[in-house]
Amino acid sequence: MYAPRKLAFSILGRCPWRHCHHGSASTALSVREALKANVEEGAKNIKIQGWVRSVRSQKEVLFLHVNDGSSLENLQIVAELELKSSAISFGSSVEVSGVLVKSPSKKQNVELKAEDIRVLGECDTKDFPFKIKEHHPPEYVRQYPHLRCRTNTFSSLLRVRSEATSAIHQFFKSNGYVHIHTPVITSNDCEGAGELFQVEASHRVGTQKEEDGGFFGVPAFLTVSGQLHLEVMSGGFNKVFTFGPTFRAENSQSRRHLAEFYMVEAEVSFTESLEDIMQIMENLFKDTTTAILSKCPEDMNLFFKFVSPGQQGRLERMIKNTFIVMSYTEALEILKKAATSFQYKTEWGCDLQTEHEKYLVRHCGDVPVFVINYPYDLKPFYARDNEDGPQRTVAAVDLLIPGIGELFGGSLREERLHILQSRLDTLGLTDTYQWYLDLRRFGSVPHGGFGMGFERYLQCILGVDNIKDVIPFPRFPYSCLL
Ligand code: 4AD
Ligand code: MG
Repeated sequence: MYAPRKLAFSILGRCPWRHCHHGSASTALSVREALKANVEEGAKNIKIQGWVRSVRSQKEVLFLHVNDGSSLENLQIVAELELKSSAISFGSSVEVSGVLVKSPSKKQNVELKAEDIRVLGECDTKDFPFKIKEHHPPEYVRQYPHLRCRTNTFSSLLRVRSEATSAIHQFFKSNGYVHIHTPVITSNDCEGAGELFQVEASHRVGTQKEEDGGFFGVPAFLTVSGQLHLEVMSGGFNKVFTFGPTFRAENSQSRRHLAEFYMVEAEVSFTESLEDIMQIMENLFKDTTTAILSKCPEDMNLFFKFVSPGQQGRLERMIKNTFIVMSYTEALEILKKAATSFQYKTEWGCDLQTEHEKYLVRHCGDVPVFVINYPYDLKPFYARDNEDGPQRTVAAVDLLIPGIGELFGGSLREERLHILQSRLDTLGLTDTYQWYLDLRRFGSVPHGGFGMGFERYLQCILGVDNIKDVIPFPRFPYSCLL
C-alpha cells in the first residue's frame, strides 16, 4: 500500500525542483502523491498539473477538482475569486501552485490552496463531447477513442489494465518463468483456422519483383498465437511465457471478439498431466485477480458500484472456490439433458458454442469450469492424442467463465514424433512443419501450455459487457479508428 509521505523535499526520490512560471522553486506532485501526502503543517510551493473535472464558485472562493490520471480521486483546489477566469472550465488543462493543506472538510484529506492557476489548454465545454456530471453510455463513449481516457470509467479501466499487466508479469516472474518476446510477424498459422492477416510492404523493396514472393519471400502474417515459438523455447527452458498482441481476421462483431487482442501464453516442459496445466491456469487467474484487488481497490470499486452491480461477490466466489472440471463428453450429456433449446447442435463431435458454454457455467453454479478431453477433430494438430480410441479425444482444455464463456484454451502438446508426423501428413503440413518435427527429433519432452485472452480476462473481473470497452483502441471488422 501507499505510505503517506512527509513532504520534506529531501525525501522526494527524484529531483523535484522545477521552476513555475513566476520564478519560485516548487515541487511538482501527481494528484495521487498529493492525496497521500502527510501535510499536518502544510506544504508550501506545491505544483499540480492536470485536467479540470469540476468548477464551482461560491461567494468568496473558487473550488476546482483536478485529475491527472494517477488516481480516481480528484484533488480539490481552493482559490480566491480573483484567480477565477473564464478559461478555467470542465476539461481544460491547468497548472496550479500553492500550499497543500489538511482539508477542513470530511470529503477529502488534503486540498491545495492555490496561489496561482495557469490555464495551459482551454476546453470549449459546448463542443467537448463529454459533459460535466452526465453519465454517458459506453456506446457513446466508444465513439471517442481519442478523448475517452478523460472519463472516470475509462481512466479507471486503463489503470486496472496497467496493474493487471504488471500482476501477470509478476506471477510468472515469481514462479520462475522466462519471458520470451515471440514475433508479431510470422510465416505459420498456429491455430490452423485460417483467420490470418497477411503482411506485405506497401511498396516494392529494392529489385523485388512480384514473383519473388513479396517482402519476406514467403507469405507472412500477423501472429494468431505465440504458442509455436514458445514451444521452440520449451526445448531449452522448462517454463516460458509471452504476453503480447495477437491478431485474428474473424468476421465477428460479437461482444467478446477483437481483430487485435492481447494474449497471455505459457508453456511448461516436463509435464505429462493436463491437471498440472489447469492448476497453473487457475493460479494465474486467482493470484492476478487478488493482486489487482489489493493494488487498485478504488478503481475496482467504481466498476462494482456503477458498471456491474453484484460483480464483487461473483469475483470473490471465483477466487474462493476450486474450479470445476468436466470432460467434453460429460458436458455434452449435460447439454443434451438441458430443458433449454439451443440454436446449435449438441451432438458428440460438435464444437461448444457460446450458448453452450454459458449454459454449462450456469449449470455448475456460476463458477469457472474446465472442459477437458475434446474430440480429436475439434482441436489443432499440436494437441496430444489421448489414445482412448482411434483419434477420439485429445488432451485439450478450455476454461469457461461466468458471463464470458471461453477465457483460456490450452493442451498437452503431441511430443511423440511418429504420431505428430502422421497427423501432419494427413493435414498436408509436413513440409511446412519440418522445424516443428525437429523439436520432437532432438530431445523431445512432454510439455503443455495455454493462452488466456487478456481483454476477456478484464471483462471477466470487471463485469464489462463489451470487449471494445476494455482495450484502448479496439479493432474489429469495418473499424480501425486512429
Ligand atoms: O483458444 P485459443 O485460440 O488458443 C490458442 O491460440 C492457443 N495457441 C493458446 C496456447 O495454448 N498457447 O485462444 C486463447 C484465448 C481464448 O481462450 C480467448 O480468451 C482469447 O484467446 N481469444 C480472443 N480474445 C479476443 N478476441 C478474439 N478474437 C479472440 N480469440 C481468442
Ligand atoms: Mg480456443
